[in-house]
Amino acid sequence: MSEPKKRNIVRWVIFGFAWICLLFAGGAAYVALQIIEGGPNQEGGIMGQPTVGGPFVLVNGNGETLTEKAFDGKVMAVYFGFTYCPDVCPTELAIVADAIDLLPANVAANVAPLFITIDPDRDTPELVKEYAANFHENMVGLTGTPEQIAAAGKAYRVYYAKRETESGSYTMDHTSYIYIMDKQGRYYRHFRMNSAPEEIAEALKAAVAG
Ligand code: NI
Repeated sequence: MSEPKKRNIVRWVIFGFAWICLLFAGGAAYVALQIIEGGPNQEGGIMGQPTVGGPFVLVNGNGETLTEKAFDGKVMAVYFGFTYCPDVCPTELAIVADAIDLLPANVAANVAPLFITIDPDRDTPELVKEYAANFHENMVGLTGTPEQIAAAGKAYRVYYAKRETESGSYTMDHTSYIYIMDKQGRYYRHFRMNSAPEEIAEALKAAVAG
């Protein structure tokens, strides 16, 4: 091969490589922009609205299928857990119940505390109903098919997974947040574990007023 031909090939290889780099950089910039602007499942969302929550189809304690529309006009306090949970769920649901009890009756009447199981294999409608009622008379226990629970969990960005125990049974690993949703069903704010009932009550009051 002659020297000029070799140089030409080298030039084309460099040119091609530069184009590939540009394409990669463009792709990376696009992905970064999606994350910043709140693409699918990112904090932020369109115009700063976080993308937590949304429509769901679940089954109540009476075995009736319902959607988020059943709670239209109410502020929802949503908690995902399971009735066999040894400690975290009972603690958090007791905090929700305490927060509701701190509210004036007319405010509490506009709050729907929801307990949604992430263990639909064991948590039957009867079980979630009884369990939720143990914490507060207003608390609504919800279950569903594994697919319905998975969809609701995904909407609320809840992580959960079965974990085998030494006794041959299983427990559930899961994230633990109390989500406050406004009267239009939109994300309002959330609370981490061991939050003060007073603080949650204030948020519920503000959401009901807002
Ligand atoms: Ni739990």
